[in-house]
Amino acid sequence: MLAIRLSAGPDRLDTLVLPVRAAADTDGGDTPATLAPTGPALPDEVLAEATALLPATRLTGRAGETYAHLRPARTPARLLLLGIGDGADRAWRAAGAALTRAGKDETHITFSVPTGTGAEAVRALVEGLLLASYRFRMTEAGEPPALTGVDLLVDDPDAYRDAVEVAETTARMTRLARDLTNTPSSVKNPQWFVAQVEAAAADQPDLHLRVRGPEELAAEGFGGILAVGGGSASTPRLVELDWRPADARTHVVLVGKGITFDTGGISIKPVPAMKLMRKDMAGAAAVVAATLGAAALRLPVRITTLAPLAENMVSGSAFRPGDIVRHYGGLTSETTNSDAEGRLVLADALAYAVRELQPDLLIDLATLTGANAVALGKRTGALYSENDQLAADLLAAVDAAGEAAWRMPLAADYVEHLGSDLADLHSSPAVGAGSVTAALYLREFTGDLRDRWLHIDMSAPSWADGDDAELTRGATGWGVRGLLRWLATLD
Ligand code: BES
Ligand code: MN
Ligand code: ZN
Repeated sequence: MLAIRLSAGPDRLDTLVLPVRAAADTDGGDTPATLAPTGPALPDEVLAEATALLPATRLTGRAGETYAHLRPARTPARLLLLGIGDGADRAWRAAGAALTRAGKDETHITFSVPTGTGAEAVRALVEGLLLASYRFRMTEAGEPPALTGVDLLVDDPDAYRDAVEVAETTARMTRLARDLTNTPSSVKNPQWFVAQVEAAAADQPDLHLRVRGPEELAAEGFGGILAVGGGSASTPRLVELDWRPADARTHVVLVGKGITFDTGGISIKPVPAMKLMRKDMAGAAAVVAATLGAAALRLPVRITTLAPLAENMVSGSAFRPGDIVRHYGGLTSETTNSDAEGRLVLADALAYAVRELQPDLLIDLATLTGANAVALGKRTGALYSENDQLAADLLAAVDAAGEAAWRMPLAADYVEHLGSDLADLHSSPAVGAGSVTAALYLREFTGDLRDRWLHIDMSAPSWADGDDAELTRGATGWGVRGLLRWLATLD
């Protein structure tokens, strides 16, 4: 990860980045950009040169615009003008992302932060820098990125230390979630995922990890996880990761869908739909990474994270359409479509949380349905809760973090379709809006936590088709940033 350094004086000027913003708009028309005033003394002739240059660059000050200018045989040898936009966190994130991309061939850059920039803005800037410079590769070929460090030139470094630390932890955990999600499923089976959690949770004394394998799952009645995992040579697991700070008053359970590959099972997916199904554990990756982040930041809230891990495969031992699954706690599901596997593993984990953990709040994240993207497009998670306050709090945190979610209704008129003649529930009703009926099904397992439960279908925003501001092509790590923001508001 890029090294971010706060400094009060320029001690090394290879490439100097100067902030550009739109001039105050007086007549409503297009306005030329101006340099934003910056603090620590920079050579006057450099500022004068940049100011003179500006009108010819056609920069408008929009967040993320860049213009590079060479100054051969002088110091700094390169000037980079960076549009910083309207000062909103979103603009700072985009500016940071653009700076990382524009500076990727530099070895070291110095950004002169505008005077009076708030700590939250610097947090967003650093998140943008660190998230847009992410890349996932499984080859040694090609050059590693040249850029290793960014200096932030500010008047008072101490005013920003906390913001930078929080941004670094947030980015490190988002990058971990991206790594887990991008990893091919030939590598990423449930056991491998467990090993990654073990490694990441080691040497954190207040973090406790318990992992159930097939025998324990069978002994305790986790029938959903066992059914879905039964077709794979890689057996299922249930991760239970507990962050238990001494000063915690609120207990949150986070549940994340951890299907390490989703073929659809016997109800097999067609080729285009199966192509990206290594991402079907993005919910588990997000909740684990958020919990590790909460531990790193020592947030005073107890978090128990459950990640049911299974590979949904086609084989002679796979569960069949029509099978009736008995979940943890005893509810049964008629499973006419083995591709509706996520809800089966989540049902076990939710029921376990309600019965054994009895938290104050119960949150689950899952790449649950293709219908999420049909309803809300590619960047927005579908959020469900009966609790208005909880929904509002999560939406606010997700939004502040630069992610997006939209509240959806738990529509009463679909509930009747959850019924089955043979079992307590039907796991994939033929009628209804797909993301909504999946949420209604999960609600059946929330028991007396029904009004303290919140579910996010994050199938769509878990993946980006191309680079876009702080997102990079592939896994986005969606949910880590929003969850960490929200967890930091609890006490
Ligand atoms: N993992 C998929 C959902 C998914 C689809 C995630 C596209 C990301 C992108 C899930 O297990 C699934 O197959 N859902 C089915 C549900 C249906 C069988 C009721 C779906 O959405 O088609
Ligand atoms: Mn599926
Ligand atoms: Zn799935």
